[in-house]
Amino acid sequence: MRLVIDSDGGIDDAAAIVWLCGRPDVEIAAVTAVGGNVEVRQAARNLRVILEAAGRPDIPVYVGADPTDPAPHMTRPVFIHGEDGLGDVGLADPERGADEATPAVDVLVREMRRGASLLTLGPLTNLAAAVRADAAAAASSRLTLMGGSARAQGNARPSAEANVANDPLAAAAALGAGWSAPPVMVGLDVTHQATLRDVEFAALAARRTAAAAFLHGPLSFYRRNAGSLCAEGETPCHDLLAAMAVVRPDILGVETLPVEVDTGGSAAWGQTVVDLRQLGWRRGQTEPTAPAAPAAATAPGVAAGRGPDGN
Ligand code: BDR
Ligand code: CA
Repeated sequence: MRLVIDSDGGIDDAAAIVWLCGRPDVEIAAVTAVGGNVEVRQAARNLRVILEAAGRPDIPVYVGADPTDPAPHMTRPVFIHGEDGLGDVGLADPERGADEATPAVDVLVREMRRGASLLTLGPLTNLAAAVRADAAAAASSRLTLMGGSARAQGNARPSAEANVANDPLAAAAALGAGWSAPPVMVGLDVTHQATLRDVEFAALAARRTAAAAFLHGPLSFYRRNAGSLCAEGETPCHDLLAAMAVVRPDILGVETLPVEVDTGGSAAWGQTVVDLRQLGWRRGQTEPTAPAAPAAATAPGVAAGRGPDGN
């Protein structure tokens, strides 16, 4: 599988990218940086650090944009990812910088046209710019995103997940593009069910592999606060689960349902509103009354992930 990863260079992003670099069945054509956990240039720097640590310095990193439509209360999640985005553990600068000459948007359009799959691990800012630049390109590509939630559940805002909350208009544009298959949305409703626990952190601490040695420091920092919204002793590693879903879609139960992003500036700004009513209608074998005309942000047929246990 040819894959492009768009990432905001944080700690769970690092876990996802290191894991994907170890997959012989994945060809990572490029990584594009977006602002989110840190500003876009720091994200690009972190992505170079991550790829070099993963033994793949050959994979190019391209610089995208910071969100232009940030929610008003949004602050960088320093308490989750640290000031530098990788847990402030003193990781050395990368040997090589990001490719500054080619805009990330151009790379995304080129790769979508070429049939590459996309995995987004940050705000959808770059991808929205790409689908605006070339509306037809999405028809040759597939999208898996870590973002949103199939239930009214948030981390950045009461009902909005950070990657969508940081740029709701971009999320609406990206989900609404004409993809070759419904986008797979791996949201908080899923990532809070498949968490890291003591056993995984003990394996990291043992540092038996180069990947564990690299990730141990950042993930130990991340563990302090990233699980605050989960059950005791559980830490979601959102982006890692989305990466796994790209390669092994069978690990998640998936339902194809309509979703709209609230872009109206209300209390629910940035919420991904998934029409779960349809699950009940299907169970009851009863046709729903005629659905309301889709709003501009509606993405008919978006697949909202269910958790590994099918709930
Ligand atoms: C998402 O927001 C970022 O902080 C994480 O890297 C992840 O992509 C979780 O809401
Ligand atoms: Ca991320």
